[in-house]
Amino acid sequence: MCGIIAYIGNQEVVPLLIGGLKKLEYRGYDSAGVCLVIDHGLKTVKEKGKVVKLEKSLVKQKLSSTIGIAHTRWATHGEPNQINSHPHLDCSSKIAIAHNGIVENYHALKELLESEGHKIVSDTDSEIIAHLVEKFYQGDLEQAVTKALELIVGSYGLVVMHQDEEKIIAARKSSPLIIGVGDGEMFIASDVPAILKHTKQVIYLQDEEIAIINKDEYSIKNLNGQPVNKKIEEIKWSVDQIEKGGYKHFMLKEIFEQPTSIANVISGRVKDNQIKITVNFDIKKVKRIIITACGTSWHSALIGKYLIEQLTEIPVEVDYASEFRYRQPVVNKEDLLIVISQSGETADTLAALREAKLKGAKTLGIVNVVGSTITREVDSGIYLHAGPEIGVASTKAFSSQVVALLILALYIRQEKKQKLDERLLKDLDNLPQTIKETLGLDADIKKMAKEFKGVTNFLYLGRGINFPVALEGALKLKEISYIHAEGYPAAEIKHGPIALIDQEMPVVFIATKNNLSEKIISNMQEVKARDGKIIAVVNEVTEEIKKLADYTIEVPEVSNKLSPIINVIPLQLLAYHIANDKGIDVDKPKNLAKSVTVE
Ligand code: G6P
Repeated sequence: MCGIIAYIGNQEVVPLLIGGLKKLEYRGYDSAGVCLVIDHGLKTVKEKGKVVKLEKSLVKQKLSSTIGIAHTRWATHGEPNQINSHPHLDCSSKIAIAHNGIVENYHALKELLESEGHKIVSDTDSEIIAHLVEKFYQGDLEQAVTKALELIVGSYGLVVMHQDEEKIIAARKSSPLIIGVGDGEMFIASDVPAILKHTKQVIYLQDEEIAIINKDEYSIKNLNGQPVNKKIEEIKWSVDQIEKGGYKHFMLKEIFEQPTSIANVISGRVKDNQIKITVNFDIKKVKRIIITACGTSWHSALIGKYLIEQLTEIPVEVDYASEFRYRQPVVNKEDLLIVISQSGETADTLAALREAKLKGAKTLGIVNVVGSTITREVDSGIYLHAGPEIGVASTKAFSSQVVALLILALYIRQEKKQKLDERLLKDLDNLPQTIKETLGLDADIKKMAKEFKGVTNFLYLGRGINFPVALEGALKLKEISYIHAEGYPAAEIKHGPIALIDQEMPVVFIATKNNLSEKIISNMQEVKARDGKIIAVVNEVTEEIKKLADYTIEVPEVSNKLSPIINVIPLQLLAYHIANDKGIDVDKPKNLAKSVTVE
């Protein structure tokens, strides 16, 4: 998704903006640009493609300034090209804006502005904002921006500057924006990594708040012009945590961080066979749970259904957030809606949460990013404490989400005065160590991956609690290697996918020990009979598995309820190595965004 960084202070702004944009690259983008105030004039430089291209062009021009705004764009309205890149200017070229979000009434506003003589040059919805501000500008940028926002229907994380005013105006609605407070300098950014090198003191803007920022001070108001008092918060992440630390890609680093991220989600919550979490409502009264999420978080939701239903006997429904929000869901006061989101900013997940709240459901968030919008709107929450996840394909957040769901299920069970399974608790306690052992498979998987880089299709099969792991394995592969992959419940292949199986089709079976192991073996035989290439994730390479599987991945045995966390690791590594062998920029796969803040 688009990223914003803006600065006002005493430092040279170009390296600072470029540095910030590079830290936002993980969000996904297809063009980038900056606008600087130089001698009471605006200088804009924009490029299609990567930030390094923009950097090269800026270095050539040797521009000097201490105020500027910058943006990485992920195209929604209009193709990725230089004209459609941000920042956008008004007709007089005195006002510049950078915008994340969507102006939903853009056609009507465009017509209005054009009828008044404004010349709109790009295909974007965002450019309209620069012209609206121009329309209302009478020597006071803050007033003009406030009036412009009154007309905008949609979402915005917005920064605006005027060549004659030494300030930047920032505004937010449904698209995250933070202010970084420095000494004689201020930053505005859509995410913490962009400014962390410079300051750890941040203010989170809330919806419909406007910030007026100059180098020494800031003030924040609501859309009615009333001042809003905001707390400065201190970011706990270190710069090191958001660097690659010797790994080739963030994704690989994050896969290898799982022993620590899992220890963090458990820490303080499971002790002496007791679960200690705080839920701000009586969870025993909940009659039904609905879990909603997108992408990888939706896969952990599916695992959560197995865990919660088996441990608590409360019925659980799982829904894509984008579907839930529009299907007029039947939700009532006795329901609990759980939203799962790494970023805490996914537009559809947030909208689903708001929909359920309107209908009176209790809400609980399982989120990684501290202070994100979802965490501010839920009744209760469980933070993952997984640390920043930068790679677009989610890995450590997924495993932490599953553990958080398990802890929640165990907590409900404990509240209902039902006994907790000691073997499960012991395995949970050992989980960071078991993950470490599983990561020891990396070298073998790397070798195995070389065999598959030319393949065009993959099938992933699992059953029970490991069916969602098959979905997640397939998603990882397609996200970063661009190989078509599908996940299926193993027994379902007879109803369609079996038609695709031949010697060209690798089929990954998640076949670790459980009550369905025998049945999975029969499914393998069906694939073998059609010459499919079998990759089996197992706990033990038995004689039978030797006969059936072309490749085996032997993972440590844990309680079935924890098996998805162990089983997903070789699948993450397999996807990573195949994509890396294909020379793909694994952390920034094409067309994808880390945080999807538009619907
Ligand atoms: C994007 C990311 C995925 C992520 C999904 C949901 O599609 O590329 O990795 O799973 O959004 O994001 P969330 O932050 O809500 O978990």
